[in-house]
Amino acid sequence: MKTLEYLNLDENKAGKVITNLNQLLANFQIYYTNLRGFHWNVQGKGFFTLHSKFEELYDEVSDQIDEIAERILQLNGTPENKFSEYLKVASIKEVGEVNCGNEAIDNILNTLKELIKAEREIIEIAGECGDDVTAALMGDYLKTQEKQVWMLVAFQTK
Ligand SMILES: [Fe+2]
Repeated sequence: MKTLEYLNLDENKAGKVITNLNQLLANFQIYYTNLRGFHWNVQGKGFFTLHSKFEELYDEVSDQIDEIAERILQLNGTPENKFSEYLKVASIKEVGEVNCGNEAIDNILNTLKELIKAEREIIEIAGECGDDVTAALMGDYLKTQEKQVWMLVAFQTK
């Protein structure tokens, strides 16, 4: 199915956006499973707060995963759905059982740092392609994530 002609976007330039979106998709999928693990395994005095917060975060990431995959389809690309492939291209690492809330938050902040960097790169690449919709989507994610960074850092500060 050819969509790019209707969108008035260049195929070669859109190809770069698709490659980067697929890498972002891989990172979001790993982030999602890491958040599920934090939600399940966190222990200690902050349990009730963090258990709920991690659920809120993974619900949001779940919606974003679908948006990224569907944006790839709109650009006439194919979103990857195999976890084995995600692990090959993702820059975010899977983490096993984490019981300590601060350790989970440190991991989330480092993941957000990585995602923010990747999304800014996509805004630049999408800009070169005239792909304002992908750029706007990345802008939405940055807005949410930068607020999350502020709140997570505030939570950690004594
Ligand atoms: Fe749950």
